[in-house]
Amino acid sequence: SAARPDTPPAPKALPDAQTVTEVRHWTDRLFSFRCTRPASLRFRSGEFVMIGLMGDPDPATGKQKPLLRAYSIASPAWDDELEFYSIKVQDGPLTSKLQHIQPGDQIILRPKPVGTLVHDALLPGKRLWFFSTGTGIAPFASLIREPQTYEDYEQVILTHTCREVADLEYGRQLVEQVRSDEMLRELTEGGIDKLVYYPTTTREPSARTGRITDLLRSGEIFRDLGIEGITPETDRAMVCGSIGLNTDLKAILEGFGLREGANSDPAEYVVEKAFVG
Ligand code: A2P
Repeated sequence: SAARPDTPPAPKALPDAQTVTEVRHWTDRLFSFRCTRPASLRFRSGEFVMIGLMGDPDPATGKQKPLLRAYSIASPAWDDELEFYSIKVQDGPLTSKLQHIQPGDQIILRPKPVGTLVHDALLPGKRLWFFSTGTGIAPFASLIREPQTYEDYEQVILTHTCREVADLEYGRQLVEQVRSDEMLRELTEGGIDKLVYYPTTTREPSARTGRITDLLRSGEIFRDLGIEGITPETDRAMVCGSIGLNTDLKAILEGFGLREGANSDPAEYVVEKAFVG
């Protein structure tokens, strides 16, 4: 009855495994996917978690270690499933593999959400800006589906800057879906009509071109939207993009008189870097 010594060990169940339910490829560099949500996972819209896959076996020991990266949860806190938006890096340790996941596959998800792009880190205000570049739109994909966003503000402006028009498609479809979602319309008592979408491209012509930083410095975005400007009395902002974008935008917002907030010390704006796998 004792196990025979030559019996191979049973494969260990993946720790914190979740099942992929949907995958969408947007460009050769961008994809999004949805997976099951652990029953115990509570998070605030805008937070991130560590997700990943089991790495290749160590050639010496045969042991496998999880390969994890930080990913903003792109779905809202009320959703039964979780959604993520990712870049594909051909030689990226994780995303070179993750880009090939299919419905039914398992991923690893550590159920410990954290992050600064949350409503709790901002003082009350009238207008909320979500400034994003590239995959930095992910936390705002969550927050524009979060009823509290529309309860707390009179106007919500989502800016998304990408190199090319095709890179905007995930966000564009999301905004369209949010605006026509009956349940969200009911949940927010029509508040989703407060959402303004301002997409721009930098390396391909489109309806609005230019870096968001330049559009803010020149005042072009304010003229486009019929807004006088950004002030600490009325405006709050969340920023998510590359390190360069975050640094430049922080300086611009500080120039308007906004101060950086945190969970423990709310103020007028918060920043987080977009995670790249
Ligand atoms: P640009 O094309 O002028 O570099 P990336 O794909 O490199 O992450 O960039 C995503 C978008 O963010 C691009 O449109 C890029 O513009 C823009 N971007 C990158 N760095 C900055 C920055 N420091 N300030 C403003 N926009 C930036």
